[in-house]
Amino acid sequence: MVMRFKRNEFLDIVNDIIINEEVQKLKLYKHHYAYTRFEHSLSVAYYSYIICRVLHLDYESIARAGLLHDLFFYGCEDKTIRPKKHISNHPKVALKNAEALFSLNDKEKDIILKHMWPLTFTPPKYLESFIITFVDKYCALKEWSNYCGYVLLNYCFLSFTYK
Ligand SMILES: [Fe+2]
Ligand SMILES: [Fe+2]
Repeated sequence: MVMRFKRNEFLDIVNDIIINEEVQKLKLYKHHYAYTRFEHSLSVAYYSYIICRVLHLDYESIARAGLLHDLFFYGCEDKTIRPKKHISNHPKVALKNAEALFSLNDKEKDIILKHMWPLTFTPPKYLESFIITFVDKYCALKEWSNYCGYVLLNYCFLSFTYK
């Protein structure tokens, strides 16, 4: 019951972002192979929201910025399309895109811009920005491991079938 209440509250906070046409386009891009960028952003936003809700931190800003942290429109798995400095540049691109669509507070801007830390140099300014750096990496690892598990399972199945 408590989780259901929180999920409704989460949706109230991010609803205008979720239904935005540009944000919906994230469903067209693969992210960590097995997921779309929209699914990844939603996971990062939701887990970060829960953590900040429990710790009595700014759960609204982290939920909104979490959904926008990877708002860029190219396939990052394809090295022929992906820009050379993707890791350091995509937070800047995402922030620029997010600012063009929504009005963001300073914390939301910092969360989006610093989410790749420590792979980028400048450390986060707010506790919520630190939290998203960990949640983003946790979600990425989870998505990668699901994909690797799927590939491994397929490999075993095919090896067994065509023995
Ligand atoms: Fe990212
Ligand atoms: Fe991400």
